[in-house]
Amino acid sequence: RYPVICIDGPSGAGKGTVTWRLAQVLGYQLLDSGALYRIVGLKAFEAGLITADASHLIDESAVLALTKSLEIAFLPNNDSGRVDIIVNGQAVGDQVRNETVGGYASQIAVFPTVRQALLTLQQDMATRSGLVADGRDMGTVVFPDADVKVYLTASAEARAERRVTQLVNAGQAADFDSILATIKERDDRDENRSTAPSKPAADALLLDSSMLDADAVYEQVKRHCQD
Ligand code: CDP
Repeated sequence: RYPVICIDGPSGAGKGTVTWRLAQVLGYQLLDSGALYRIVGLKAFEAGLITADASHLIDESAVLALTKSLEIAFLPNNDSGRVDIIVNGQAVGDQVRNETVGGYASQIAVFPTVRQALLTLQQDMATRSGLVADGRDMGTVVFPDADVKVYLTASAEARAERRVTQLVNAGQAADFDSILATIKERDDRDENRSTAPSKPAADALLLDSSMLDADAVYEQVKRHCQD
Protein backbone atom coordinates (compact mmCIF):
# COMPACT_ATOMS: atom_id res chain seq x y z
CA ARG A 1 0.00 0.00 0.00
CA TYR A 2 1.03 3.58 -0.63
CA PRO A 3 1.53 6.18 2.12
CA VAL A 4 -1.64 7.73 3.52
CA ILE A 5 -1.98 11.04 5.36
CA CYS A 6 -5.32 11.65 7.08
CA ILE A 7 -6.56 15.15 7.81
CA ASP A 8 -9.83 15.00 9.73
CA GLY A 9 -11.84 17.66 11.50
CA PRO A 10 -14.95 19.82 11.45
CA SER A 11 -16.16 22.15 8.74
CA GLY A 12 -14.10 25.30 8.27
CA ALA A 13 -11.06 24.19 10.28
CA GLY A 14 -8.86 24.60 7.20
CA LYS A 15 -8.55 20.99 6.03
CA GLY A 16 -9.07 21.88 2.38
CA THR A 17 -6.10 24.23 2.14
CA VAL A 18 -3.66 22.03 4.01
CA THR A 19 -4.64 18.81 2.20
CA TRP A 20 -4.30 20.53 -1.15
CA ARG A 21 -0.83 21.89 -0.40
CA LEU A 22 0.40 18.60 1.02
CA ALA A 23 -0.86 16.65 -1.99
CA GLN A 24 0.84 19.07 -4.37
CA VAL A 25 4.18 19.06 -2.55
CA LEU A 26 4.28 15.30 -2.03
CA GLY A 27 2.83 14.38 -5.41
CA TYR A 28 -0.01 12.44 -3.74
CA GLN A 29 -3.64 12.29 -4.75
CA LEU A 30 -6.16 14.24 -2.73
CA LEU A 31 -9.21 12.31 -1.58
CA ASP A 32 -12.10 14.58 -0.63
CA SER A 33 -14.28 12.05 1.18
CA GLY A 34 -16.84 14.70 2.07
CA ALA A 35 -17.75 15.02 -1.62
CA LEU A 36 -19.01 11.42 -1.50
CA TYR A 37 -21.39 12.16 1.36
CA ARG A 38 -22.38 15.40 -0.32
CA ILE A 39 -23.35 13.71 -3.57
CA VAL A 40 -25.38 11.04 -1.77
CA GLY A 41 -27.02 13.77 0.33
CA LEU A 42 -27.91 15.79 -2.75
CA LYS A 43 -29.36 12.77 -4.54
CA ALA A 44 -31.34 11.83 -1.41
CA PHE A 45 -32.76 15.35 -1.27
CA GLU A 46 -33.66 15.26 -4.96
CA ALA A 47 -35.37 11.91 -4.41
CA GLY A 48 -37.42 13.39 -1.56
CA LEU A 49 -35.81 11.15 1.07
CA ILE A 50 -34.61 14.06 3.24
CA THR A 51 -35.77 17.61 3.82
CA ALA A 52 -33.63 20.72 4.11
CA ASP A 53 -34.65 21.30 7.74
CA ALA A 54 -34.00 17.67 8.76
CA SER A 55 -37.53 17.63 10.10
CA HIS A 56 -38.64 14.10 9.39
CA LEU A 57 -37.34 10.64 10.12
CA ILE A 58 -35.27 9.32 7.27
CA ASP A 59 -35.69 5.82 5.86
CA GLU A 60 -32.17 4.38 6.08
CA SER A 61 -32.91 1.47 3.76
CA ALA A 62 -34.18 3.85 1.07
CA VAL A 63 -31.01 5.97 1.34
CA LEU A 64 -28.92 2.80 1.19
CA ALA A 65 -30.76 1.59 -1.92
CA LEU A 66 -30.21 4.97 -3.52
CA THR A 67 -26.51 4.92 -2.60
CA LYS A 68 -26.12 1.47 -4.12
CA SER A 69 -27.94 2.55 -7.26
CA LEU A 70 -25.37 5.25 -7.90
CA GLU A 71 -22.46 4.18 -9.99
CA ILE A 72 -19.65 5.93 -8.16
CA ALA A 73 -16.06 5.80 -9.31
CA PHE A 74 -12.95 7.54 -8.05
CA LEU A 75 -10.52 8.53 -10.72
CA PRO A 76 -7.08 9.93 -10.01
CA ASN A 77 -6.67 13.12 -12.04
CA ASN A 78 -3.02 13.78 -12.69
CA ASP A 79 -3.60 17.29 -13.93
CA SER A 80 -5.43 18.57 -10.88
CA GLY A 81 -3.91 16.13 -8.37
CA ARG A 82 -7.41 15.55 -7.04
CA VAL A 83 -9.36 12.36 -7.19
CA ASP A 84 -12.28 13.03 -9.50
CA ILE A 85 -15.55 11.59 -8.28
CA ILE A 86 -17.62 10.26 -11.14
CA VAL A 87 -21.27 9.52 -10.49
CA ASN A 88 -23.29 7.78 -13.18
CA GLY A 89 -20.64 8.77 -15.69
CA GLN A 90 -20.53 12.46 -14.71
CA ALA A 91 -17.88 14.27 -12.73
CA VAL A 92 -19.18 15.77 -9.51
CA GLY A 93 -18.01 19.35 -9.57
CA ASP A 94 -18.38 22.33 -7.31
CA GLN A 95 -22.16 22.09 -7.34
CA VAL A 96 -22.06 20.08 -4.11
CA ARG A 97 -19.72 22.54 -2.34
CA ASN A 98 -22.24 24.70 -0.52
CA GLU A 99 -23.61 24.72 3.01
CA THR A 100 -27.05 23.49 1.98
CA VAL A 101 -25.60 20.32 0.49
CA GLY A 102 -23.22 20.03 3.47
CA GLY A 103 -26.34 19.78 5.63
CA TYR A 104 -27.83 17.06 3.42
CA ALA A 105 -24.53 15.19 3.62
CA SER A 106 -24.48 15.18 7.40
CA GLN A 107 -28.07 13.92 7.51
CA ILE A 108 -27.30 10.80 5.49
CA ALA A 109 -23.80 10.37 7.00
CA VAL A 110 -25.32 9.12 10.26
CA PHE A 111 -26.36 5.81 8.66
CA PRO A 112 -23.96 2.90 9.27
CA THR A 113 -25.13 0.94 6.21
CA VAL A 114 -24.60 3.93 3.95
CA ARG A 115 -21.10 4.54 5.36
CA GLN A 116 -20.30 0.86 4.90
CA ALA A 117 -21.40 1.02 1.26
CA LEU A 118 -18.91 3.83 0.65
CA LEU A 119 -15.99 2.29 2.52
CA THR A 120 -14.16 0.05 0.03
CA LEU A 121 -14.30 2.69 -2.64
CA GLN A 122 -12.33 5.03 -0.40
CA GLN A 123 -9.88 2.36 0.79
CA ASP A 124 -9.12 1.30 -2.77
CA MET A 125 -7.67 4.71 -3.47
CA ALA A 126 -4.68 3.91 -1.30
CA THR A 127 -3.83 0.94 -3.52
CA ARG A 128 -3.18 3.26 -6.46
CA SER A 129 -1.05 6.13 -5.18
CA GLY A 130 0.03 8.06 -2.12
CA LEU A 131 -3.01 9.73 -0.63
CA VAL A 132 -3.93 12.76 1.42
CA ALA A 133 -7.41 12.00 2.72
CA ASP A 134 -9.74 14.75 3.97
CA GLY A 135 -12.79 13.92 6.08
CA ARG A 136 -14.17 13.03 9.49
CA ASP A 137 -13.27 9.34 9.90
CA MET A 138 -10.20 8.94 7.69
CA GLY A 139 -7.89 8.23 10.64
CA THR A 140 -10.38 6.32 12.78
CA VAL A 141 -12.25 4.07 10.33
CA VAL A 142 -11.19 4.29 6.69
CA PHE A 143 -7.40 4.25 7.07
CA PRO A 144 -6.70 3.14 10.66
CA ASP A 145 -3.13 2.19 9.67
CA ALA A 146 -2.36 5.53 8.03
CA ASP A 147 1.19 6.84 8.27
CA VAL A 148 0.16 10.29 9.49
CA LYS A 149 -3.02 11.42 11.20
CA VAL A 150 -4.00 14.97 12.02
CA TYR A 151 -7.24 16.22 13.55
CA LEU A 152 -7.56 19.87 12.66
CA THR A 153 -10.01 21.84 14.71
CA ALA A 154 -10.87 25.44 15.60
CA SER A 155 -13.51 27.12 17.71
CA ALA A 156 -16.94 27.33 16.08
CA GLU A 157 -16.67 31.13 16.24
CA ALA A 158 -13.33 31.18 14.39
CA ARG A 159 -14.72 28.86 11.74
CA ALA A 160 -17.86 30.95 11.29
CA GLU A 161 -15.70 34.09 11.00
CA ARG A 162 -13.67 32.48 8.21
CA ARG A 163 -16.81 31.48 6.39
CA VAL A 164 -18.14 35.04 6.59
CA THR A 165 -14.86 36.36 5.13
CA GLN A 166 -15.02 33.80 2.29
CA LEU A 167 -18.58 34.75 1.40
CA VAL A 168 -17.92 38.48 1.61
CA ASN A 169 -14.84 38.10 -0.60
CA ALA A 170 -17.02 36.26 -3.09
CA GLY A 171 -19.41 39.22 -3.08
CA GLN A 172 -22.14 37.34 -1.22
CA ALA A 173 -24.22 38.25 1.80
CA ALA A 174 -23.18 36.62 5.08
CA ASP A 175 -24.80 36.64 8.48
CA PHE A 176 -22.44 35.60 11.29
CA ASP A 177 -25.13 34.35 13.67
CA SER A 178 -26.91 32.14 11.20
CA ILE A 179 -23.62 30.75 9.89
CA LEU A 180 -22.51 29.98 13.44
CA ALA A 181 -25.80 28.22 14.16
CA THR A 182 -25.49 26.11 11.00
CA ILE A 183 -21.91 25.14 11.85
CA LYS A 184 -22.90 24.10 15.37
CA GLU A 185 -25.82 22.07 14.10
CA ARG A 186 -23.62 20.13 11.67
CA ASP A 187 -20.85 19.65 14.29
CA ASP A 188 -23.42 18.29 16.69
CA ARG A 189 -24.74 15.75 14.20
CA ASP A 190 -21.24 14.69 13.06
CA GLU A 191 -19.77 14.39 16.56
CA ASN A 192 -22.67 12.61 18.20
CA ARG A 193 -23.67 10.00 15.65
CA SER A 194 -23.04 6.44 16.79
CA THR A 195 -21.10 5.26 13.73
CA ALA A 196 -17.78 6.87 12.84
CA PRO A 197 -18.36 10.09 14.78
CA SER A 198 -16.03 12.94 13.93
CA LYS A 199 -13.24 12.65 16.49
CA PRO A 200 -9.46 12.44 16.61
CA ALA A 201 -7.91 8.97 16.25
CA ALA A 202 -5.98 7.96 19.37
CA ASP A 203 -2.71 8.44 17.47
CA ALA A 204 -3.64 11.71 15.75
CA LEU A 205 -1.92 15.05 16.19
CA LEU A 206 -4.56 17.43 17.51
CA LEU A 207 -4.11 20.87 16.00
CA ASP A 208 -6.23 23.89 16.90
CA SER A 209 -6.14 26.41 14.08
CA SER A 210 -8.22 29.11 15.83
CA MET A 211 -5.17 31.36 16.18
CA LEU A 212 -3.17 30.09 13.19
CA ASP A 213 -3.21 31.18 9.58
CA ALA A 214 -3.11 28.72 6.69
CA ASP A 215 0.70 28.92 6.35
CA ALA A 216 1.26 28.17 10.02
CA VAL A 217 -1.10 25.18 9.90
CA TYR A 218 0.64 23.85 6.82
CA GLU A 219 4.08 24.21 8.43
CA GLN A 220 3.00 22.36 11.56
CA VAL A 221 1.39 19.53 9.64
CA LYS A 222 4.40 19.24 7.34
CA ARG A 223 6.72 19.06 10.33
CA HIS A 224 4.56 16.35 11.84
CA CYS A 225 4.77 14.38 8.57
CA GLN A 226 8.57 14.52 8.77
CA ASP A 227 8.71 13.26 12.36
O1 CDP B 1 -15.82 20.76 3.78
P1 CDP B 1 -16.61 20.51 5.02
O2 CDP B 1 -15.74 20.13 6.17
O3 CDP B 1 -17.61 21.58 5.33
O4 CDP B 1 -17.53 19.26 4.72
P2 CDP B 1 -17.16 17.89 4.03
O5 CDP B 1 -15.84 17.38 4.49
O6 CDP B 1 -17.39 18.00 2.58
O7 CDP B 1 -18.29 16.93 4.68
C1 CDP B 1 -19.67 17.16 4.54
C2 CDP B 1 -20.38 16.25 5.53
O8 CDP B 1 -20.19 14.90 5.12
C3 CDP B 1 -19.86 16.31 6.96
O9 CDP B 1 -20.51 17.30 7.73
C4 CDP B 1 -20.17 14.90 7.46
O10 CDP B 1 -21.50 14.79 7.91
C5 CDP B 1 -20.02 14.04 6.23
N1 CDP B 1 -18.72 13.36 6.16
C6 CDP B 1 -18.56 12.21 6.89
O11 CDP B 1 -19.45 11.80 7.62
N2 CDP B 1 -17.40 11.50 6.80
C7 CDP B 1 -16.40 11.93 6.03
N3 CDP B 1 -15.30 11.22 5.96
C8 CDP B 1 -16.53 13.13 5.31
C9 CDP B 1 -17.70 13.84 5.41
